[in-house]
Amino acid sequence: MKTLLSGIKPTGRPHLGNYLGMLKPGLELASHNDYQSFLFIADYHALNFIQDQKLMRELVLEVALTYLALGLDPSKTFFYRQSDIPEIFELALILQCVCPKGFMNRAHAYKAIVDKNRAEGRDEDDGVNMGLFNYPVLMAADILMFNADYVPVGQDQIQHLEYTRDLAIKFNHIFGKTFKIPEALVKEEVAVLPGLDGRKMSKSYGNTIPLFEPDNKIKKIINSIKTDCKGANEPKDTEGNLIYLIYKELASPEETEAFAEAFHSGISYGEAKQKLYEKFIEYFSGPRAVYEDLKAHPDTVFDILAEGQKKVRPIAQEGIQIIRSKIGINRN
Ligand code: TRP
Repeated sequence: MKTLLSGIKPTGRPHLGNYLGMLKPGLELASHNDYQSFLFIADYHALNFIQDQKLMRELVLEVALTYLALGLDPSKTFFYRQSDIPEIFELALILQCVCPKGFMNRAHAYKAIVDKNRAEGRDEDDGVNMGLFNYPVLMAADILMFNADYVPVGQDQIQHLEYTRDLAIKFNHIFGKTFKIPEALVKEEVAVLPGLDGRKMSKSYGNTIPLFEPDNKIKKIINSIKTDCKGANEPKDTEGNLIYLIYKELASPEETEAFAEAFHSGISYGEAKQKLYEKFIEYFSGPRAVYEDLKAHPDTVFDILAEGQKKVRPIAQEGIQIIRSKIGINRN
């Protein structure tokens, strides 16, 4: 049986863009009976960005709640925290020893910082910690630890998968065949969902629609979507219209068509926003109920993660023994 594995970094509260771009497709794949699936919370990857105890706790819980509310079934999918599987970090160290530094100098995230520092006349490594520099190696360890065949990721992670493959090949070449060479599964038509201001919906632009805020907050956020100044009764174009584009992602084709009709016959933006708000609430009503319930019982969530650790750690322990023996670190 093929193995599918993906991780999410708890660096922000999951929003509609995350949902459509990766949570929904990831969960669909994970629920497939033809795969064995691993979905995990990459909390040590987040440590590069989140260096605040309270916030880290909140964000890890938030990601776990989100996955469970959206229907992840922990009896079918291995669901765990990266930090609960120390073998991953041992493997990351091992992989660092077969990873040329020059290779890492070309990693996008690192290189972008270096280029910016150079352009602005600073020391080129200004603001770079080793966690960031080694980020791709840790990600390779996440994947290789469980010999994943497929890794569903967004476009921005393709280079990380290339690093993973290269490190696996390198290790296999030096120590003999050990790791499978994983493949990235990148969604073909990446729906780049626009945010409230028309740029890509992203936490770093502060233009997102969070999934599980109280109704009145969602309403306020939807009301802040940018529009042109066409008045009520004026016919409106759906093309490039943010309200329409977001609605379309949540509604059926028939509803979307009716919504387009309403645009052409001059629905006001206020009314259109109200309709989007209602659709959003309807679409997420089931998950929101589960979310609220679990949020009131965080122990249940931590118990589920502890169960996940119990199932996953033995797999990693067995794997690391094989790796140790390949490199000659254990007795045989
Ligand atoms: N780097 C990924 C991201 O930022 C998160 C991640 C960490 C991941 N480890 C992984 C994704 C392993 C897939 C497989 O989105």
